[in-house]
Amino acid sequence: MKRIEGWFSTFIYGAPLQPRWQSLNRELLKECHQLREFDREGQRWSKKNYPGGYTSYHSFDHVQQLSSTFMELQRRLDRHVKAYARGLDWDLAGRGLTMTDCWVNIMPHRTAHSLHLHPNSVVSGTYYVATPKGCAGLKFEDPRMSKFMAAPPRGSEARRENLPYVTYPARAGNVILFESWLRHEVVASPIQSERISISFNYAWD
Ligand code: NI
Repeated sequence: MKRIEGWFSTFIYGAPLQPRWQSLNRELLKECHQLREFDREGQRWSKKNYPGGYTSYHSFDHVQQLSSTFMELQRRLDRHVKAYARGLDWDLAGRGLTMTDCWVNIMPHRTAHSLHLHPNSVVSGTYYVATPKGCAGLKFEDPRMSKFMAAPPRGSEARRENLPYVTYPARAGNVILFESWLRHEVVASPIQSERISISFNYAWD
């Protein structure tokens, strides 16, 4: 019997944070703006490294400790990360996955975040606070891309599991999780309104 079977799957998790995320997002939105106002160092760093936008990645990368609002977000995200770990059949040997860093990203028109991964982490992800219509999603690359050597390209009718890229739409109230080695990017924002997200890493402690 001849057959082709898929192996070594890459799993990406997407879910609403909770049934009623709207009130949390209202608070988060306010606090993301406040942080940008307050964070002069982050403004300076973003000017050079995140043109047009603001990220607290370099200046405030523990926002989960900043306020009860961000703490609440962390509590909710912890549950999703647990569910993701179960889905991946991980044996955590009695240890947990703990949020190590968490930061705010504000992307106005034309701000982009080029292809990257998150070294020294196990699970990474993003939670969406404000996603104006038409804003860019989160684009993932097939992790085997660097190993393809002479592999032919995939046809236009390729099945989903054979696609070289997949883009998850950015939707306010949704959380996306992925393994930290998976390369991803956000293409330049095509719209004027600000897209606001909170990104984070988890480590196996
Ligand atoms: Ni990232």
